[in-house]
Amino acid sequence: MAQNTLTVTDNRTDRTYTLPIEDGTVRSMDFRQIRNGEDDFGLMLYDPAFMNTASCRSDITFIDGDRGILEYRGYPIEVLAEHCTFLEVSYLLLFGELPTAPQLDHWVYEITHHTMLHETTKDFMEGFRYDAHPMPMLVSTVAALSTVYPTSREVHDPANRLLQIKRLIAKMPSMAAFSYRHSLGFPYVYPDNDLSYTENFMNMLWKMVEPKYAANPVLARALDILFILHADHEQNCGTNVMRSVGSALTDPYLATAAAATALSGPLHGGANEEVIRMLDEIGSKAEVPAYIRKIKEGGGKLMGFGHRVYKNHDPRATIIKKTAEDVFGVTGHNPKLDIALELERIALEDEYFVKRKLYPNVDFYSGLIYQAIGFKPEMFTVLFAIPRTVGWLAQWQEMLMDSEQKIARPRQIYTGTRPRTYLPISERSTEGKPQF
Ligand code: CMC
Repeated sequence: MAQNTLTVTDNRTDRTYTLPIEDGTVRSMDFRQIRNGEDDFGLMLYDPAFMNTASCRSDITFIDGDRGILEYRGYPIEVLAEHCTFLEVSYLLLFGELPTAPQLDHWVYEITHHTMLHETTKDFMEGFRYDAHPMPMLVSTVAALSTVYPTSREVHDPANRLLQIKRLIAKMPSMAAFSYRHSLGFPYVYPDNDLSYTENFMNMLWKMVEPKYAANPVLARALDILFILHADHEQNCGTNVMRSVGSALTDPYLATAAAATALSGPLHGGANEEVIRMLDEIGSKAEVPAYIRKIKEGGGKLMGFGHRVYKNHDPRATIIKKTAEDVFGVTGHNPKLDIALELERIALEDEYFVKRKLYPNVDFYSGLIYQAIGFKPEMFTVLFAIPRTVGWLAQWQEMLMDSEQKIARPRQIYTGTRPRTYLPISERSTEGKPQF
């Protein structure tokens, strides 16, 4: 018998099936042949929250959660964070190879020359309430770009796809900065083509009346490193949404808006904002043990801790911790860092967290850096969405070119009552039924 097979015996019928194993995986559709009779639909696999289901083949990002390894296109994240710029890494994620110098120059030129927003997009943003949260503002504005670029619907045209990819990567910082300025009531600052991707973003955020804004190079580099770390993370919640929505051949602006919507949730990219709120709530180092006790007694989750995939350490958190030192060297010490370090120290020794393999994730320290650089907590998830757009687009494109992919459509186990007899409204009673 071949080695790479799985033998399954259906005890209902005593029939045995041999299923191929490929890449450590069996195909769900191979179970469909296992039937309990002529009318039986066939065996399905039940996997709420996709705990053990591979939804695609991908050669973009590799994660070994048990060993704390993260690689983009085979390059360790630590190497990319040390040597590359964010736009260089974007090129790698999208095209599979690190660029040569002329390729990078061309790529940077192309992105730089797509940073402007159509004036109607600016006008659209003016309509948000003065105190609107920047993340839903960003999500809605990304979706609205679909109205500005209606040809983006032609998702099977590679040249068209590339144009929309460039537009999205280029315009995310512009929309993010406009949403920030809007929440402060400040006039919007247009992009400056002389500046790098991150410096231009900082310029649009913080330029006031000075003729030329000069970003601090240490802070600009720190932001660039954070962008590299957040650029992709294989099939996380937002990326799964991007692929799922994109599988209906929806245009990339609407699909990106959907992915960003998923990212905004507090269990996903929204956790960085929650970490700062949590550190504020704890208040001081001395209060940390009491807070940990509260969490263990069921009083919520320690935000910035735990991960579906990493069960050893999150390599991004390690790099962020080091980057934090560089940033605090410029901005001065953030007193919340002491609370965070104490929280990490106690949690890593505590049986509850050790047993569940809960370690600080990417969101635990990133908020402290963002705050030190000058961002309000409401902007933190926006800062996650800018670089993650590159990962979403790389995954979207890979999905569209994968001949095995179709419209995403899971099955369900129906648990309701059926069939039921229709009663005219005059004969219905509320007895024994829930009231709404
Ligand atoms: N604090 C306290 N307990 C936790 C935490 C936490 N942060 N995370 C998980 N647990 C417990 C959980 O209650 C469960 O305990 P038990 O076995 O007794 O029921 C056990 O650990 C396993 O957790 P889970 O909920 O089954 O794990 P999951 O893989 O479904 O969830 C997670 C992963 C990231 C959603 C979760 O760890 C969490 O909610 N963390 C806090 C939010 C956060 O920091 N999110 C950012 C994730 S990284 C960036 C990103 O994805 O965008």
